[in-house]
Amino acid sequence: MGPAMGVNLDALSSYSVVDALRGGEAILIRALRPDDQDRLLEHFNRLSETSRYLRFFGYKRRLDRAELARLCNIDFDRHIAVVATLTKDGHEYFVGVGRYVRLADDPRCAELAFAVLDEFQGRGVGTLLLQHLSGIARSQGVQELEAYVMGENQRMIEVLEHSGFRVRRRYEDGTIRFVLPLGGCTGAGRPSPPRA
Ligand SMILES: CC(C)(COP(=O)(O)OP(=O)(O)OC[C@H]1O[C@@H](n2cnc3c(N)ncnc32)[C@H](O)[C@@H]1OP(=O)(O)O)[C@@H](O)C(=O)NCCC(=O)NCCS
Repeated sequence: MGPAMGVNLDALSSYSVVDALRGGEAILIRALRPDDQDRLLEHFNRLSETSRYLRFFGYKRRLDRAELARLCNIDFDRHIAVVATLTKDGHEYFVGVGRYVRLADDPRCAELAFAVLDEFQGRGVGTLLLQHLSGIARSQGVQELEAYVMGENQRMIEVLEHSGFRVRRRYEDGTIRFVLPLGGCTGAGRPSPPRA
């Protein structure tokens, strides 16, 4: 199902919502824009080797201009990306980046990927990115989100398992394939309450 079913592409490409980190600090969740290449590069350069490994499934040292252009010039139909940003001394920087890309052979399903700056991990950014992306996905007729997660990536596993969706998982050679059915939600896409 395409964008005709849901929010129009102009509205999605100017998506912008102020939300809150755990602890209450305001954070902007907005659509990624074509002029964000330098901010995306700065975000990549600030990720630790471990985070890059978990995100890209390999030791990735650099993002070249062609990749940056491809990652920033997205169509908001097949490929959607949102960023969580803070602004310090007039400089806006990316704390987290989340995207989904619809599968070529089944556009009702889309694959998720996230990256949050190491010093912000565990503060709710990944959870916020998932909430916003899953809301957008549902409005666009996406029925399932899937994510491939390394078995040791406990943070991402927790983000998905506490998403409020009836998550399915399958183990494939050290990787876990998670599927989040957007229709079968136990909690409107909100995370479960914190455990005691
Ligand atoms: C995975 C990632 C996107 C999660 O984002 P995040 O902002 O750290 O996630 P959140 O703070 O929303 O949630 C983290 C969860 O892990 C748990 N957690 C926090 N610290 C933890 C730790 N040291 N070890 C294990 N789990 C931890 C928290 O309990 C939280 O679960 P909760 O919602 O039940 O409280 C982020 O850590 C990241 O970018 N990692 C590197 C790249 C990556 O792994 N990308 C995903 C590949 S698809």
